[in-house]
Amino acid sequence: MIDVKSAAEIDGMRKACRIAAEVLIETGKNVSIGITTRELENIAGKKIKSLDAKSAFLGYRNYPGIICTSINEVVVHGIPSSQKLKEGDIIGIDVGVKYGGFYGDTAKTFTVGTVSGSTEKLLRIAESSLESAIKDCSAGCRLGDISSVIQKTAEENGFSVVRDFVGHGIGRNLHEDPQVPNYGSRGTGLRIPENCCLAIEVMINEGMWQIKILPDQWTAVTSDGKLSAHFEHTVLVKKNGCEILTKER
Ligand code: MF3
Ligand code: CO
Ligand code: CO
Repeated sequence: MIDVKSAAEIDGMRKACRIAAEVLIETGKNVSIGITTRELENIAGKKIKSLDAKSAFLGYRNYPGIICTSINEVVVHGIPSSQKLKEGDIIGIDVGVKYGGFYGDTAKTFTVGTVSGSTEKLLRIAESSLESAIKDCSAGCRLGDISSVIQKTAEENGFSVVRDFVGHGIGRNLHEDPQVPNYGSRGTGLRIPENCCLAIEVMINEGMWQIKILPDQWTAVTSDGKLSAHFEHTVLVKKNGCEILTKER
């Protein structure tokens, strides 16, 4: 069942998502050569605390981190560690927070120093596939419309979309119905109701779509060891489009 939010719930979602966006901005500002992902986690943790929120990820199914930090071939769910960022790396930072009973969820992939042209293209296409999907989405659209825009954008550019993880509804829970896959056909799937909230998250690989999970049971990496990019926004679906609740501003 897709949950439709009341005016009061929408207000709660706006606040939680604003905080998630602020935390991602603050953490992203600190991405630099030599910093460890644990230092980035500490920065995120302080910011979350200063805004009176809680990490949505810490302890979720025993996840051990405050945020997810996914470097290079790590698709999602990279656990903060003593690993240092180096020139040419990319790092996906995923921030989920809980505030006032509501969840906000947003992610972005950042570059470390100068990256290659092909790496830049991967990030550009991944981000623009998310933007296009959001632009196309309004109440009455079908889930497959979102999925197909993302898949088409990625594949037209020679990239592939991850099948094993999907976007999701969000609200009083981090993960709610419906699932929002990044592959599918226009005109298929559920109709999206007005005033529902979706975390649309694209995970796009430079090579093959297949992934594997490392022995830590969290870290998802590309099977071929090539790069992967992750971008995510929580949106409110309205009559004539979407309001991006986790927008940077
Ligand atoms: N990446 C997931 C999402 O954005 C949440 C991570 S769950 C965690 O929906 F436990 F790994 F943190
Ligand atoms: Co997320
Ligand atoms: Co999410």
